[in-house]
Amino acid sequence: MIITLASFKGGVGKTTTAIHLCQYFATRKPKRKVVLADGDPNRTAIDWAESSQFDLPFVVTDASTALPNYDVLIVDTPARTEPEDLSDLIETSTLVVIPTKVDIFDVRATLALGDTLRPYPAKYRILLTGLPRGKRLYNAAKQLFDDQGLKCFEGGIQQLAVYRDAAYEGIPVSRYNEAGKKAMAEYENIGSQILKGWSHG
Ligand SMILES: Nc1ncnc2c1ncn2[C@@H]1O[C@H](COP(=O)(O)OP(=O)(O)OP(=O)(O)O)[C@@H](O)[C@H]1O
Ligand SMILES: [Mg+2]
Repeated sequence: MIITLASFKGGVGKTTTAIHLCQYFATRKPKRKVVLADGDPNRTAIDWAESSQFDLPFVVTDASTALPNYDVLIVDTPARTEPEDLSDLIETSTLVVIPTKVDIFDVRATLALGDTLRPYPAKYRILLTGLPRGKRLYNAAKQLFDDQGLKCFEGGIQQLAVYRDAAYEGIPVSRYNEAGKKAMAEYENIGSQILKGWSHG
């Protein structure tokens, strides 16, 4: 399975999502070989892994070098996916995950790619990130995507200080503290939707 992170705005949680989905897939089945391929010239994920004081259950490597064997490959991409590259990413991936902040400007940037996404309902999911407490903004953003026939994961990712704290230590939030374990449940929810798949498109 190849999961690619893409977004049309930077800083929306692609790398954070790549890391935490890797953590989820690798810990749920320890024999599963999980590889995070860093395709960002900033080497964010590679630098993160090199700074880690923790034995990661997945491999982080440069996407432009030969990849080790994998069962699950998660590809992180640079800040902003060019709209014309999106079709190629959809073709070459099992699933494209598109983190999108619930801020309306970010939502609109993803809505603008609707025509490219709509023909492939089983091959992408929008992941709503930066959620405040409460469901109001989540529901508002989800409604806009639903109205355009675009697919979102059920549930998203809250904006929580623990992600930035844990990143400083080079560890996934689930290994950081109790608040991080609770936060990780949101990525577990997303990971389990990916593993279940969606037979109805
Ligand atoms: N759920 C979250 N809550 C709070 N902070 C977060 C969350 N997810 C990510 N962050 C922080 O937001 C910043 C941007 O996140 P991240 O690097 O994952 O985004 P990105 O889309 O990969 O960015 P870029 O486009 O630059 O590659 C980082 O400082 C990260 O620690
Ligand atoms: Mg990134």
